Formats: sequence, structure tokens, C-alpha cells
Amino acid sequence: MHRLPLPLLLFLLCSRAQAGEITGGTESKPHSHPYMAHLEAVPPQDKPMTCGGFLIRRDFVLTAAHCAGRSIMVTLGAHNIKKKEDTWQKLEVIKHFPPPKYDDSIVRHDIMLLKLKERANLTLAMGTVPLAPQFNFIPPGRMCRVAGWGRTNVEEPGSNTLQEVKLRLMEPQACTHFTPFDHKLQLCVGSPHMTKSAFKGDSGGPLLCAGVGQGIVSHGQSDAKPPAIFTRISHYRPWIDKVLKEN
Ligand SMILES: *[C@@H]1O[C@H](CO)[C@@H](O)[C@H](O)[C@H]1NC(C)=O
Repeated sequence: MHRLPLPLLLFLLCSRAQAGEITGGTESKPHSHPYMAHLEAVPPQDKPMTCGGFLIRRDFVLTAAHCAGRSIMVTLGAHNIKKKEDTWQKLEVIKHFPPPKYDDSIVRHDIMLLKLKERANLTLAMGTVPLAPQFNFIPPGRMCRVAGWGRTNVEEPGSNTLQEVKLRLMEPQACTHFTPFDHKLQLCVGSPHMTKSAFKGDSGGPLLCAGVGQGIVSHGQSDAKPPAIFTRISHYRPWIDKVLKEN
């Protein structure tokens, strides 16, 4: 069946809540994911834009291309995004680096680098995460973990506290209803038999497998049934390394 891809900016978790299927996700131990970044558009837009992202260098955050906003503010070191703590560092984004061929009609190459105005100070609550190397093609079957401040209920604007859930990498056949699904560029994530453990992450958030960044939350179906599509980081390593080197 042909279904349009739906960017996971806000809708996925919203529909899931309507289906009464929350979740298998649990609140993260505060600051146990020190690379997590909370992204919001500034000044606030009519349609609120919040996304996840993750710190890969002291002055670079990785996120999804469809999270591009006019101007983005990044909060690092946060757990409850509504409750300011001493661990917070808020940093302005000074430059967006979308991938060379981003195609938002099919949400392909959904990856973006953000250069921060200052370098984040690394603390216990804040650090970078290693990314999968170019030839580390992670196979289906592995269990990985995603975290985010995504919506947990249709009436709620989003989860205040960081949530996380474990998800299985699926065979590409489980994602053939996404047109087009490209196994080289994307990951098919979340068992269709495990609706209760579907992810609660925001777009742009990281998928970590054994502590290594392998995926970026990209899009799902409008009826919110897993699996969902993540961008496969290893494919983009040459581009990421080039941008980091030149900036
Ligand atoms: C990092 O620490 C320095 C020195 O304490 C401070 O001036 C700077 O504002 C800090 N950077 C951020 C992003 O909080």
C-alpha cells in the first residue's frame, strides 16, 4: 500500500496517543544522555517547531533536515525542558548545513548539521556521542535506543522530561510500504508486533546502538504504526567529516 511519509516533527506521537498505545517508553535518568539537544525555532512560530538533536562536536549538533527553522536555539544539558537547571547551556545556531541533495517531498537525505555560535562546555551533564563509521553498515535484528521530548498525549505540547525506548532494527521488507524506502540510506526501526514499545522521540533525535550513533529520527506513518524510518548515519559519514573539517 502506498502511504505518504509523514515527518515526525509533531504528528506521530500525537496519533499514537489517540490510539491509546503509549508506549514502552520510560523517563530517562536525568542527564544519562548528555549529548541530547533540544531544538526550538526562535522567535516562536505560529506552528511550534521543536526537534531533537545530538552533540557530535563541541560546536556541532546533528539533527534531521526537516527540522530546519528560520533561526534555531539549542538547549544542551537539559532533562525537564520546562525547568531550567545549572546544567543547561543554551546556544544559538549560526549556520545550517543541509545535505547536498535533501528532497523533502520524499523525506530522503533527512540529515542536517548545525554549527553553534559558541563551543559547549563539556561537563558531566554534557558530552559528545561517537558516530558510526562509513563502513559500519548496521544489520537488522539489533536492539537500539532512541530518546526525545516528543509528544506523549494528544493534548500535551510534548513531554517535559526526556523519554527513551528500546527498538529493534527491522528487515527492509518491513518498510516497503514507505515509498521509496532505501536500505542504503535509511533504517527501518521498530517491530510492527510491538506497538507498545514504539518510540517517543522527536524528529532529529539519535538512535544509539551499543553507544554509537547509527540513526536519526526521520518519519513514520500517519496512523503511527511502527516501524518508522530513521536516516542511516554511516552512509553520510564522508559528508559529515568534510563539513566538520572545513568548519
Ligand atoms: C563556558 O564556560 C565559560 C567560562 O566559565 C563561560 O564564559 C561560557 O559562557 C560557557 N559557555 C556556555 C555555552 O555556557
